[in-house]
Amino acid sequence: MDPREYYAEHAEREFERLTETLPKRLEFEHTVETLDDVLPGGGRVLDAGGGPGRYSIWLADRGHDVAHCDLTPELVDLARETAADADVADRVDHLAADVRDLPYADDAFDAVCCLGGVLNHVVDPGERERAVAELRRVAKPGAPVAASVISRLGGVRYTLKQLAVEDDPDPAEVDVLEAVARNGDFTEEIVERHGQSEGWARNHMFRVDEFETLLDSQGLDAERVVALEGMATNLHEEFADADDAVRDLARTLGDAFREDRALAELSEHFLVVARA
Ligand SMILES: C[S@@+](CC[C@H](N)C(=O)[O-])C[C@H]1O[C@@H](n2cnc3c(N)ncnc32)[C@H](O)[C@@H]1O
Repeated sequence: MDPREYYAEHAEREFERLTETLPKRLEFEHTVETLDDVLPGGGRVLDAGGGPGRYSIWLADRGHDVAHCDLTPELVDLARETAADADVADRVDHLAADVRDLPYADDAFDAVCCLGGVLNHVVDPGERERAVAELRRVAKPGAPVAASVISRLGGVRYTLKQLAVEDDPDPAEVDVLEAVARNGDFTEEIVERHGQSEGWARNHMFRVDEFETLLDSQGLDAERVVALEGMATNLHEEFADADDAVRDLARTLGDAFREDRALAELSEHFLVVARA
């Protein structure tokens, strides 16, 4: 499905994406803790593909002037509302824009964020390079560029877990999952080829090395890889009623193994911080 159509349909749900379950909250917490380490004390920050604006609000609260943009106009409207509700409207500009063709000047930002799987939705490899080149172009030399994406192994395991508890799993879904695991592409073409009736917004899921190589190809040097959901990855329902001590343990272990590459591969999302 076209990402813009998909996100227009699910706009309201997207704002809850980072709060619904413990792994989702950890995705947000580990992202902002890492940003807090690498961002400058102030200055202008881009939130590219910022969706409903949760990270833009955090950035504005941290004292930045924020440029938020997103492909989906419905999400840009929602981000305007959420910024106003959070009393940061005067610190966040909003624009409908495509990460492959950013409407900002060269070297415009002190830091650039592209979080929560935006780059997964650019499925053509050449366009993906163009999107990364755009992130670099608008970042000042030496500025941090932080991008988080859906991991291939973490994403595949998420669906495998769902299929494992179904009484009568759709054989087409099983075949699609094998294809996605092998090359990362979850596109309309793969879905149709295997006879599955519908898919999610088309995307390409990354291995860690593959994503670092993509960034490097456009002059962005990766300096940190962070496992976002960490030890709690994929354990959404399992943690719904978990004891506080066990939740705390998931957080503690997530912190302890935050920069472990094996855990980044298995997390549903991983974050790479690079320098322009
Ligand atoms: C899962 S949401 C993440 C939103 C936000 N960054 C967050 O983490 O909450 C993915 C976002 O990517 C946006 N998107 C997809 N393709 C894009 C593109 N080519 N340019 C800009 N945004 C895009 C979608 O509209 C959607 O808002």
